[in-house]
Amino acid sequence: MSGKSPLSILVIEDNPGDFELIEEFLHEQIGALVITRAQNYKEAKASLTREKIVFNVILLDLSLPDKTGSELIKEIVQESDNVPVIVLTGYDDFAFGAKSISLGVSDYILKDELTALTLYKTIIYSLERRKIISSLEESEKRVRSFAKQLSEVVEEERARIAREIHDEFGQQLSGIKMSLSALKKGAASQIDVEPIIETIVNEVNHSIQSLRQISNELRPALLDKLGLLAAIEWLVNEFGKKTGIDSHFGANGIQPAIIKDVEINIFRICQEALTNITKHACATLVNVTISGNEDMLNVKITDNGKGINAGILRDPLSMGLLNMRERSNLIGAALHVSSSAEAGTIIELIVNTNGKENINS
Ligand SMILES: Nc1ncnc2c1ncn2[C@@H]1O[C@H](COP(=O)(O)OP(=O)(O)OP(=O)(O)O)[C@@H](O)[C@H]1O
Ligand SMILES: [Mg+2]
Repeated sequence: MSGKSPLSILVIEDNPGDFELIEEFLHEQIGALVITRAQNYKEAKASLTREKIVFNVILLDLSLPDKTGSELIKEIVQESDNVPVIVLTGYDDFAFGAKSISLGVSDYILKDELTALTLYKTIIYSLERRKIISSLEESEKRVRSFAKQLSEVVEEERARIAREIHDEFGQQLSGIKMSLSALKKGAASQIDVEPIIETIVNEVNHSIQSLRQISNELRPALLDKLGLLAAIEWLVNEFGKKTGIDSHFGANGIQPAIIKDVEINIFRICQEALTNITKHACATLVNVTISGNEDMLNVKITDNGKGINAGILRDPLSMGLLNMRERSNLIGAALHVSSSAEAGTIIELIVNTNGKENINS
């Protein structure tokens, strides 16, 4: 076995001869080993619920004095806390073997066919399978939580847009309506309506601007019209104008063709990074550079602010950094965030563009 800590195995076996054989086989193959024996279901349950003992594998005989068969399997699997359970049995029953796998058992082995090597192999395979299942469960959990967060963000965004449309356009259209009434009255009383018309034109212009801004936030028009580079350049310029922070954009190298879904994710990552700088960094200088070749695109956003607290960076509880990571996973990119109080924050996104068909998987 690789790894330093000994392998801890719970052997649930009432027959002394069988237990000795299993023990011998285990010692023959595994150097660092701790074996705990339970002679019946009651003892097994006590061992599994006892605090501090963490087993790596459970070997289970199917006919114990106080419980047998599928009932025993169900109970042990339930108590096992995801530790692989390997059934070692004297009954050659293929159908039952298959059923026991569906009950959550990792393997079903006949005692007659047991050798030190087959026992060792099934233990190692079971441990490896458990590792894969755990990492799949972990990534499934992440995907589920991301989907939940995403739908919350979509709802929040809808509410914000509804508010903005209501407050901005509601007021602006009311203003235009009032001006038109004034125009009507003015025309009727034959006064000079030129200034009223001027006001209406200004109000309409203002509304057009607001409309552009809202639709731009929804889906940056520049991204579709001019592509990623121009859209990010625009983002950086707008950021500089709004915040007064000295902001620079630079692009060099060949810019590979990037598919639309990937572009919008890169754009949103830059947007969140810049929003975070406004909200948290206290920076005076921001640089966004994009470089690339035929196979990859590198986007780097640096600020000279106060840096991200190391604890937050390790385990961010808020959405922004998590979303940046999830978006980068979604497009098969790598996201590196390094930060210190002295040097500020560097966010680097490396997008692999040569395996385009895999990029969104
Ligand atoms: N460029 C930065 N400089 C300094 N601190 C930062 C920077 N970016 C992020 N942080 C820190 O990391 C934390 C997490 O950022 P994150 O974007 O995940 O959350 P948030 O901005 O607080 O909230 P939101 O969910 O609205 O994005 C921030 O609260 C802030 O403390
Ligand atoms: Mg944020």
